[in-house]
Amino acid sequence: MTHLYNTKWSAEVECEECHTDFNGFSDPLHIGDNPDGIAEINFGPLAHDTINGPIRPNPVWDRNIATCSSVYCHGTFKMGNINATGVWTNASSVFCGRCHGDNNPVTQNPTPRDSNGVFVPPHFSFMTINSCYVCHGTVINSQGMFVDKSKHVNGDVDF
Ligand code: HEC
Ligand code: HEC
Ligand code: HEC
Repeated sequence: MTHLYNTKWSAEVECEECHTDFNGFSDPLHIGDNPDGIAEINFGPLAHDTINGPIRPNPVWDRNIATCSSVYCHGTFKMGNINATGVWTNASSVFCGRCHGDNNPVTQNPTPRDSNGVFVPPHFSFMTINSCYVCHGTVINSQGMFVDKSKHVNGDVDF
């Protein structure tokens, strides 16, 4: 599962990042007195993170379309794709370039842009997945493989 074991993009995401603040088994945010069989989603600090700047995530889980939107983790930050969503039941809805970058499933270039699609220095249009390591070498290598997933989607820009 993308978020828990064998994660692809980050360290394991703690249960509390998506099911937070419940106080015991029958709390309404857990099962409640009148169980509806639904595990309530209440996001923790990572989804609300603001790294650097004025962009405030407003994380929302829409059960009908099984989609999270306006979460920090999927691009709601300064050079992220603030409209990016993640479909819970479709792991391929998320790819390099989806949360930050060209948002194009074919090219999948992750070079960050601002919300108008403009490359923001020190990022330029000639950069590819093989350039990031020059400055973000604690996170990624020259082949574009993560060297330390725990530093990716962790709420800090590591460079
Ligand atoms: C990245 C967010 C995320 C994380 C992390 C996460 N969950 Fe969930 N969980 C969900 C979503 C989304 C659902 C589906 C909710 C719905 O049906 O509306 C869910 C559903 C559930 C359910 C209901 C059964 C089911 O399969 O639908 C249980 C129980 C549950 N989670 C427990 C956990 C536990 C325990 C952990 C930690 C080991 C955890 N979750 C971590 C998002 C998460
Ligand atoms: C020339 C050095 C350099 C290269 C190469 C570089 N970055 Fe960065 N990147 C930075 C610096 C410095 C920051 C912090 C800028 C800031 O906080 O304003 C940053 C910030 C970021 C951020 C966070 C943006 C935000 O909203 O705060 C992301 C995402 C990112 N880089 C991804 C990438 C990716 C993906 C690549 C490869 C395609 C890449 N970077 C290549 C230097 C670089
Ligand atoms: C699920 C959304 C998501 C996907 C998919 C994603 N990123 Fe990121 N990426 C982030 C977030 C959020 C940050 C902001 C900094 C942080 O929290 O680490 C980030 C930051 C970065 C950075 C800056 C260094 C840092 O601090 O992490 C690099 C480099 C980077 N991503 C490369 C990639 C590459 C390469 C891929 C594809 C293999 C990729 N990203 C896919 C969410 C994503």
